[in-house]
Amino acid sequence: PSLTDQICSSPKAELHMHIEGSLEPELIFALAQRNGVSLPYPSVEALRSAYAFTDLQSFLDIYYAGASVLLTAQDFYDMTMAYVQRALADNVRHAEIFFDPQTHTARGVELGVVFDGIGRALDDARAQHGFSSALILCFLRHLPEDEAMATLEAALPYRNRFIGVGLDSSERGHPPAKFARVFARCRTLGFRLVAHAGEEGPADYVRDALDILQVERIDHGVRAIDDDALVARLACERIPLTVCPLSNQKLGVYPDLRQHSLKRLLDAGVVITLNSDDPAYFGGYMNANWLAACTALDLDADDAWRMARNSFEAAFLPAAEKRAFL
Ligand code: HPA
Ligand code: ZN
Repeated sequence: PSLTDQICSSPKAELHMHIEGSLEPELIFALAQRNGVSLPYPSVEALRSAYAFTDLQSFLDIYYAGASVLLTAQDFYDMTMAYVQRALADNVRHAEIFFDPQTHTARGVELGVVFDGIGRALDDARAQHGFSSALILCFLRHLPEDEAMATLEAALPYRNRFIGVGLDSSERGHPPAKFARVFARCRTLGFRLVAHAGEEGPADYVRDALDILQVERIDHGVRAIDDDALVARLACERIPLTVCPLSNQKLGVYPDLRQHSLKRLLDAGVVITLNSDDPAYFGGYMNANWLAACTALDLDADDAWRMARNSFEAAFLPAAEKRAFL
């Protein structure tokens, strides 16, 4: 088979996807209408044409505005089911899905509504399609640690609905150390731990996420390339990076994908995985990300096979379940 066919048909796990980032403009408009929410854009086309980002913050401003149409459990259900359909079409067999509770509770949406809508969609996806999934609750790093701690406490009644916690939103000026206490508490509670680090922030943030937060995977982590000792450590300790090529291109981390560090990291032995981050905003779901990276960096069948295998190795699944996917 061609490399394109191999990539598209290969079973994959997606480990870095924000469910709010899967809201397509058409669904944003449909939900706005259903809920009587007014949007600062006259049409789907006008909204989509606002997706011209210069950096992470310029994206986040629009991403939080888009999420403002989510009010009922049915809204969260519809958003999640739409993502599942896209993932199935790309042969994603397992997804560990981020969600941002603070984006919703700040607007008066109850945490139970969020868990109910997303959770019911994922239960149906498993029952109807055999789609495997888990949820990871992300703290917004531009907000104070106290608010992350309060969010954690509020989420504990839904303890069995999520497997881990992460850290997202504006990275620069919000280092991992800011969240040391809440991550320590999550570790005590037995949650799996991940954090965005080294997307716009420096390689030091990757090291601090490992040493201070004690995360098991790094989301993005592409700036690790600036620190040879850190790259060697990631490879040696088999700490996975969840890399998102089209996101990095659209947010100007690597405006030219041919310059992307993922090939150099892969060749250095780092457990690289490929993911879509916010697929509705960055121009593509899983296979689009895989094909863009492989084309720009001239990756071969062996590289693609390795990254598919890495995606299951890096997943928070029992070993027997991982083996069954490949
Ligand atoms: N980086 C940080 N925060 C985010 C992202 C991202 O790529 N997507 C959604 N929230
Ligand atoms: Zn992300």
